[in-house]
Amino acid sequence: MDALARADALTAYAAEAAGCVRCALSATRNRVVFGSGDPDADLMLVGEAPGFHEDQGGAPFAGQAGELLERLLEGIGFRPDDVYLANVLKCRPPQNRDPLESEIASCEPHLFRQVELVRPRVVATLGNFATKLLSGQPYGITRVHGQEHEVALGATTVVLFPLYHPAAALYTPSMLQALEDDFSRLPTLLGREAPPVPHPAQPVPLGAPPSLAACDAVAPRTTMQLGLF
Ligand code: URA
Repeated sequence: MDALARADALTAYAAEAAGCVRCALSATRNRVVFGSGDPDADLMLVGEAPGFHEDQGGAPFAGQAGELLERLLEGIGFRPDDVYLANVLKCRPPQNRDPLESEIASCEPHLFRQVELVRPRVVATLGNFATKLLSGQPYGITRVHGQEHEVALGATTVVLFPLYHPAAALYTPSMLQALEDDFSRLPTLLGREAPPVPHPAQPVPLGAPPSLAACDAVAPRTTMQLGLF
């Protein structure tokens, strides 16, 4: 299938998934947050689940974690539209609780189909849930971040690149540093030249409130709740 046909198939699949009732989250979600960005992207980033803002707006990474992600991408010469963003779960868990195993199992065909249609070269998994699902391994992100390896996701072979979740890095300077360091390797993994002048992400001032993940003003999650480490 050429890129145009894959993009059309992705649009059609998103329309189908918009009515998904594969799990009980369909009863509490406001909308299915399928994915966004370039349907032919070389780089796909996979987060955990939509939060309040994503559930309202319909696109992944709409809150503070998304702003950090955008700055990190800019630092390596990418705009958000150059990549494809998706999550393990397409629907917001109530109170932004951790995804249940049954929900992940119900939702994973959507993510695998996205990988199959976008056909990225590199899939960066953000945090524990995406990393464990797509690596098929139980290792936590603290142990495996920055360690790329080839995996077959369905019929598509990609370089899997586990990264800290930006929501966790927002308030933990050491994690932000590790995330920036890992991010700086992405151009090489993608077979591109690194940008001449790096623009490091701005650290969040100390004393900022410990609201993480979807950065949900209504129901904040803790880092541990997110399973980010
Ligand atoms: N927003 C998302 O879309 N995914 C996350 O994992 C966190 C915030």
